[in-house]
Amino acid sequence: MESSLIRVGMLGCGHVGAALAVLVAERRDEVARRTGLDLSVTRIAVRNTAIDRDVPVNDDAFTTDAASVVADPEVDVVVELMGGIEPARELVATALSSGKPVVTANKELLANHGAELYALAEANGVDLLFEAAVAGAIPIMRPLRESLAGEPIRRGMGIVNGTTNFILTRMTDEGASYADALAEAQSLGYAESDPTADVEGFDAGAKAAIIATLAFGARVVAGDVYHEGISGITVDDIEFAADLKHCIKLLAVAEQTVDEDGRSQVGVRVHPTLVPLDHPLASVNGSFNAVFVEGEASGDLMLYGRGAGGRPSASAVLGDLIDAAGNLHGGHGAVIGDLEPVRIAPIDDVTSAFYLNLEVDDRPGVLAQVAAVFGEHGVSIRSMEQEGLGGEARLVFITHGAQERDLRSTLEDLRSLDAVRAVGSVLRVIGD
Ligand SMILES: NC(=O)c1ccc[n+]([C@@H]2O[C@H](COP(=O)([O-])OP(=O)(O)OC[C@H]3O[C@@H](n4cnc5c(N)ncnc54)[C@H](OP(=O)(O)O)[C@@H]3O)[C@@H](O)[C@H]2O)c1
Repeated sequence: MESSLIRVGMLGCGHVGAALAVLVAERRDEVARRTGLDLSVTRIAVRNTAIDRDVPVNDDAFTTDAASVVADPEVDVVVELMGGIEPARELVATALSSGKPVVTANKELLANHGAELYALAEANGVDLLFEAAVAGAIPIMRPLRESLAGEPIRRGMGIVNGTTNFILTRMTDEGASYADALAEAQSLGYAESDPTADVEGFDAGAKAAIIATLAFGARVVAGDVYHEGISGITVDDIEFAADLKHCIKLLAVAEQTVDEDGRSQVGVRVHPTLVPLDHPLASVNGSFNAVFVEGEASGDLMLYGRGAGGRPSASAVLGDLIDAAGNLHGGHGAVIGDLEPVRIAPIDDVTSAFYLNLEVDDRPGVLAQVAAVFGEHGVSIRSMEQEGLGGEARLVFITHGAQERDLRSTLEDLRSLDAVRAVGSVLRVIGD
């Protein structure tokens, strides 16, 4: 087969970009043999051209002028791997407007400006592909927009942040404190020196917005996502959860529900969650990621793998690059379609089962008082464990499905009982 030369302009040559440049060179002959596309990286924009990057690309391909890469008539496809919103947004928009397909791994950009960029790609008849933006090497974007395009998806749940999954796994397996597990993640390079974006759920929140957009064809942005992080999780919580045959994971959840008036709405949230030990997500440990999709006709699906790292993420970028290059001459491939404005479910409307633990006076009648408060707010108890602490007792509950607002008012009343000394962690539970 005669192959067509596809000239690739890269914006960024850091962890993912450098790995991509290597992978393109390593795979060039095989990709050409299998697809007829001869991929060649011809231009690369970086901030500092003096750094030796050890990639198989000529030195004169490098520039600090990113706009010149996008504008270069000798660049057929643009790959954005610089991260952040500006100048990435403007560069991607310019490339699409001038009819050049774009591949990006930039979750922050898509979670904030996705809708305008997807529309621009569509209007110009070119691809905007972003498999690596959610869960690194795991193919989840293409399944959501192509394989599952006809599937009514009820819920998507993901472990999409490897840093927090590593920390929670260390706390579970080694009994490490949150602070020690975080320090270990930092020493291994899994966590940044300022870990806020990971541990407080912002990174997972951006990915949740992208998953919700593709799963429901809805206009969902990062600011719509409710999030709670893992910094308040204790080893005690993990041990109580284990006693109840659960583990704790930071989940990104996107689900389609109806409100009290029957209106369709989308709930998007990130929070630590009790996962039953027999659920497939419970076996996703360390820095691994997974996305679990509940379809109406398909049933449950799960995709699992490396959610970050230069080479795994570059693998997903290369897949997109081959797709975009292949579509370049033959018209573009899968489209996202019109994104509908959607009602975002307020967190108070969301229903889930809850785990909570209370420290109470260890005397007769207290359990009945506590149970009465649950009953008054219509929150029913699925299981309860009691542990004597000498003078006081710890009560650990899992409820049946309850609305957040009912659970919140239950907690307020529990806190006002004389017999309740402390209300510990309150966490959502999947299952109901
Ligand atoms: N790292 C991962 O595991 C991973 C996984 C999935 C997705 N992603 C996403 O992939 C993207 C890249 O991540 P990364 O980890 O590879 O980032 P990185 O290592 O920080 O690399 C960023 C690259 O962009 C260049 N750059 C930044 N601003 C620039 C500008 N204004 N003009 C020209 N060049 C500029 C930098 O140049 P210098 O080298 O000269 O500083 C660097 O080469 C991000 O959107 C990230 O969220 C990363």
